Amino acid sequence: MQQIKEKLLQALEAAKASKSAESLEKIRIDFLGRKGSITTLAKNADFSKMSVEEKKGFGQRLNELKTFASEQIKAASEALEATVVRHKSNDLDLTAPGKGRRLGALHPITLAQMELEDIFQGMGFSVLYGPEVESEHYCFESVNIPHDHPARDMQDTFWLKNQLILRTHTSANQVRTLERFGAPIRAIFPGRCFRYESIDPSHENTFYQCEGLVVDKDISVANLIAVMKTILSQVFRRDVRVRLRPGYFPFVEPGFELDLNCLFCGGKGCPTCGDGWIELIPCGLVHPQVLRFGGVDPREYSGFAFGVGLTRLAMMKYGIRDIRYLNCGDLRVNEQFSVLM
Ligand code: FA5
Repeated sequence: MQQIKEKLLQALEAAKASKSAESLEKIRIDFLGRKGSITTLAKNADFSKMSVEEKKGFGQRLNELKTFASEQIKAASEALEATVVRHKSNDLDLTAPGKGRRLGALHPITLAQMELEDIFQGMGFSVLYGPEVESEHYCFESVNIPHDHPARDMQDTFWLKNQLILRTHTSANQVRTLERFGAPIRAIFPGRCFRYESIDPSHENTFYQCEGLVVDKDISVANLIAVMKTILSQVFRRDVRVRLRPGYFPFVEPGFELDLNCLFCGGKGCPTCGDGWIELIPCGLVHPQVLRFGGVDPREYSGFAFGVGLTRLAMMKYGIRDIRYLNCGDLRVNEQFSVLM
């Protein structure tokens, strides 16, 4: 039996080297087939000369040999199969047609942001980015909204456990920037904002704004309106109707709401706008207290600030009627804009 075992192992080594499935099948027949050496060993055994104990021992060893042989042959055949699969997958077929590539596309908000950045840079504005996780100080106190001020209720806030917050508006960058660069300054701060909102076609809990800040000598509402007009005409490249009405924000005085006549319904009222107007760019002259917080003397400098609703601007520009499409993560939304890259 030991001899048979050794022969089997030698034959398997040879078959592995030749990598041939046929030679493995031949080994199986040679050892385990009807006339194979293991079967013959059993057939030729002279049981009449063996004691009961010897018969039992012989049978047991014969079974062990059969099991050993089947397992060895099975393992060799599996190893061979794996090699064949590996070789097949490595095959290089130079004549096979190429795999098509999916063209990526920028998100409509990114496109709108890039366009705004270009327009403002053309007017001499710097583009700066502030943190999304903010301190209460920069988000509220530095823009003249103290702890107990009712204006805090205008922006429902996500608080983190460490007393920081997710910024509710990009105005949080105003004093950061004044502290860092002083006056005069002309900059925009695009970025993501967060509010605990009820979601509807024009409100999301995560949306983008693009803040603008100009501080210089003799800045007036006329400068503010001139910049707003330039932006809108360059973004929409056609006549759009806007209205300017008084608006209250503790960090500007006077403050305005600049609303865009809804481009979907022409001002009749629809699910996107509600009453025909989209609140798009609140703005105003920077409150003297904010300049002071930023270390700028309001007797010497004045300024204006605005907060473009960048997500809503993208909706109007690209004809997206519901804000929820923008955060849904469905690539079919982006794919429609690939030509614009
Ligand atoms: C502000 O956030 C002020 N910081 C804007 C500002 C800056 C005023 C500088 C004066 C001077 P308001 O909460 O209205 O204001 O938001 C500004 C714009 O962001 C809105 O007009 C709107 O276009 C957009 N916006 C606000 N909340 C949402 C929301 N939940 N989903 C989508 N867009 C929003």
